Amino acid sequence: MSLATETAVIAAKFDYTDEDVNRGVKEFLRQLGEGLEKDGTSLSQIPTYVTGVPNGTEKGLYMAVDLGGTNFRVCSILLNGDTTFNLTYSKVAIPKELMVAKTAEELFAFLAKQIELFLQTHHEDHFEKHVKRRMTESSPEGFKDEHHFRLGFTFSFPVQQLGINKGTLIRWTKGFDIPDAIGKDVCALLQTEIDKLGLPVKVAALVNDTVGTLMARSYSSPGKTGAVLGAIFGTGTNGAYVEKLANLKKPLSGEYDKSTGEMVINTEWGSFDNQLSVLPNTPWDIALDRESVNPGIQMYEKRVSGMFLGEILRLALLDLVKNDKVSFFRDENSGSNDWKSTTTIASESSIYKQWGLDTSIMSVAAADNTPELSTLRQELDSMLHVYSPAIDDAQAFKTISGAIGRRSARLSAVAIAAIVLQTGGLSTATEDEPIDIGVDGSLVEHYPYFRDMIYEALRVIDGVGEEGAKRIRIGIAKDGSGVGAALIALVAAGMEKSKSN
Ligand code: BGC
Repeated sequence: MSLATETAVIAAKFDYTDEDVNRGVKEFLRQLGEGLEKDGTSLSQIPTYVTGVPNGTEKGLYMAVDLGGTNFRVCSILLNGDTTFNLTYSKVAIPKELMVAKTAEELFAFLAKQIELFLQTHHEDHFEKHVKRRMTESSPEGFKDEHHFRLGFTFSFPVQQLGINKGTLIRWTKGFDIPDAIGKDVCALLQTEIDKLGLPVKVAALVNDTVGTLMARSYSSPGKTGAVLGAIFGTGTNGAYVEKLANLKKPLSGEYDKSTGEMVINTEWGSFDNQLSVLPNTPWDIALDRESVNPGIQMYEKRVSGMFLGEILRLALLDLVKNDKVSFFRDENSGSNDWKSTTTIASESSIYKQWGLDTSIMSVAAADNTPELSTLRQELDSMLHVYSPAIDDAQAFKTISGAIGRRSARLSAVAIAAIVLQTGGLSTATEDEPIDIGVDGSLVEHYPYFRDMIYEALRVIDGVGEEGAKRIRIGIAKDGSGVGAALIALVAAGMEKSKSN
């Protein structure tokens, strides 16, 4: 069998047909409804206690931190009240050992330390005044609670939210695994470490990155109405949308403003269809899940998001490497290689290591449409240590990688369409005033044509169609975890005030 034929067989396993997409949407809507009724369902449908989206006139200086992927970000945000903002931030990679630390304290102490460093660097003045003030805490003119920075904590893992700044961790995702933190209030964990350092910071709001994205999009979106969905397609995937309170049947424990008749719901759609009733399941999806830290959960995320696509591809490619019937990443002699060399795969190539293939190379593969695929081949050489890969090798890589990327985008369309249909806005939306969706994350930002592939799938969905797809605007909402968290900290500060009045 030729390499091209074998490649086509593998790629075909990632086909996700129009029919599959439609079946997916129906099941998504069913699981979405189920999650609104009771706890413990596949889609968690977590009430966020955020009952409205901003309109761009909000003002003030806030802090935000973001834990949820590879990096920890600390920022301060000045909301100018005219849909614009000024953002200062610092970013540090989270040490791998802290992602699987023994105690929650180890991780949260690290986070508090980064907040201290940020304040010293970017808000020295405020920081020093604060240290002086703290000494006067007992006098009436001395230190007061309002001198604290209000901080929005973007914590992008499934959390049972108990109030605007209170929530217990349900489970870790995206490779984090610190069992000690499960069931604990993550705001309290952070506040304790902040207080140990004596920092002038109050954790005012707990925010999922999707909720932040939704808020940020609404603050800066050009439309008359706010965004209806904030979604992340990055290391992980998830979405938060505006739901009618009347549809939310499960009991709510915390306080919230009922006047808007709405609440933002964090779907935690990464766990859509954990039971695999409609999700595709290739041998490589099965192998990835089996070897993951959380088998059987986040099954949708494991087929859609950046953390996993590279690994699916690696496992599929490895089967080709091991297949004696085809020559993949090796060739007979230099005559069969246009670089006049022979292809060799180094024994230390990361293709042999779990998580060894970074999803970013898939973007390179999708972007390289030259006849020689030279950029991709260079990348295979430098990133994967496949020396002098032939055009055929690169073509096989590109085909399988493209099939996995395309399946991811079509699966993403399933979630987006289901939410759009759930909110029922298509009938009133127009091409000029479309349904607005804010998205963020490395996939949607950097994977070529990801959004186009989403739209292509949206057009075949019953109830959306060609016309409906034109009335859906999917726009990038950068810095959702910063600006969005600041906006929610602002809402929280308002709630504190109205309580004390
Ligand atoms: C988490 C979500 C988060 C998403 C995107 C998922 O793994 O469960 O809470 O929103 O990643 O960061």
